[in-house]
Amino acid sequence: MEIENKMEKIVSLCKRRGFVFPGSEIYGGMANSWDYGPIGVELKNNVKQSWWKRFVQGRDDMVGIDAALIMNPKVWEASGHLSAGFADPLVECKKCHTRFRSDQIDVSAPCANCGAKNSFTEARMFNLMFKTFVGPAEEDANIAYFRPETAQAMFVDFKNVLDTSRKTLPFGIGQIGKAFRNEITPGNFIFRTREFEQMEIEYFIPVPVRDEEWKDYFEMWRQEMISWMKENLGLDMSHVHELEVEAADRAHYSKRTIDFEYDFPFGRKELYGLAYRTDFDLKNHFKEPPYRDAQTGEAFYPHTIEPTWGVDRSVLAVLCEAYTEEGERIFLKLPPKLAPYKAAIFPLLKNKPELVEKARAIYKDLQNNFMVAWDDRGNIGKRYYAQDEIGTPFCITVDFDSLEKGDVTVRDRDTAKQERVPIAGLKEYIASRLK
Ligand code: GAP
Repeated sequence: MEIENKMEKIVSLCKRRGFVFPGSEIYGGMANSWDYGPIGVELKNNVKQSWWKRFVQGRDDMVGIDAALIMNPKVWEASGHLSAGFADPLVECKKCHTRFRSDQIDVSAPCANCGAKNSFTEARMFNLMFKTFVGPAEEDANIAYFRPETAQAMFVDFKNVLDTSRKTLPFGIGQIGKAFRNEITPGNFIFRTREFEQMEIEYFIPVPVRDEEWKDYFEMWRQEMISWMKENLGLDMSHVHELEVEAADRAHYSKRTIDFEYDFPFGRKELYGLAYRTDFDLKNHFKEPPYRDAQTGEAFYPHTIEPTWGVDRSVLAVLCEAYTEEGERIFLKLPPKLAPYKAAIFPLLKNKPELVEKARAIYKDLQNNFMVAWDDRGNIGKRYYAQDEIGTPFCITVDFDSLEKGDVTVRDRDTAKQERVPIAGLKEYIASRLK
């Protein structure tokens, strides 16, 4: 499949089937804003739930929070986001006024938009914070910012979390939520947008006496991130690459950063990051050391390892990985756990009330445990096709034998094989395959 073609096909499938729509479309859209539709929100929620289950619910050394999007502006002074640290270099074409990130283009080449030569302004740093006003008066005293990362709330709430959860080091705080950045060049569908979601962990460790100590925790999270991509997202790890970020390219707070890059159809790009933030953030936010060792009574600033995941990039990587064409057949080979619907239920014939009634009862019963779809339109082949396109792992058909023998045909998305399964055992059948 041609690479550009693949991305176009994915974008078109997303729109056609209700994964992702262009935002505000009836008003001509809003550049680079996207809305998750009925199928997409299920996929996205499954990614988030899978993350929460693995990294918060499933670990004794983790707790979660859900903090405000607009925080006190002092947070962003302390974190360094309001200074030059959180800015990208911007150049503008003097002829057509299109803006570019100067670190992403060759500024000696003609403008990619209008072709003008030697047309770029000097680069200037452009801060990515999204500004707003709190309250009715639009004056400087009321300026506030939408958070550019979820991370800072985990630092700012550190003491409250500590006092209420009584965790001891090492432990982490996790959060899933929206972040906002006034990106100069958003693009590539949901890859780079101005409003996006993150899943982040700040993992607090004792002050490392030797480098090995933080390196061990860093390695633990590196392995966890690899394992998440393999086991939870089902990515082929030959499509994932680790990039050791050079000191000059690291964020202002980081002593070491690894980017996990993924081979998207539009190129190899950052999927996730892992950073050692030292004690930079807690020191900037707390005048007094916020942690006291229970044994020695010594107070100090814990250090932080930060694994960070983009939700939308996870969804995009999963879609790129799952998109499969076999002849005329298009299907999404999604990991069953992430699939929007776990099963679809069909009565063989729409005009046979006894089949519809039986199928409806099965559908309602399964609905208590799983997201399930109902389809009674067209022939069975068309229904299979429609479910394959949205990655439903199992299609269940209720036929005349079902009425007599109490079983149904279950057809597997990936192999297209069919088997008879007793109705009484359907829940266990589906649950056992949601790995
Ligand atoms: N707290 C650290 C932090 O925010 P980052 O590398 O700037 O680090 C973390 O962002 C992750 O958030 C990225 O690896 C990516 O998955 C996602 N991300 C960042 N900017 C994004 C954007 N404009 N659109 C979509 N996802 C984005």
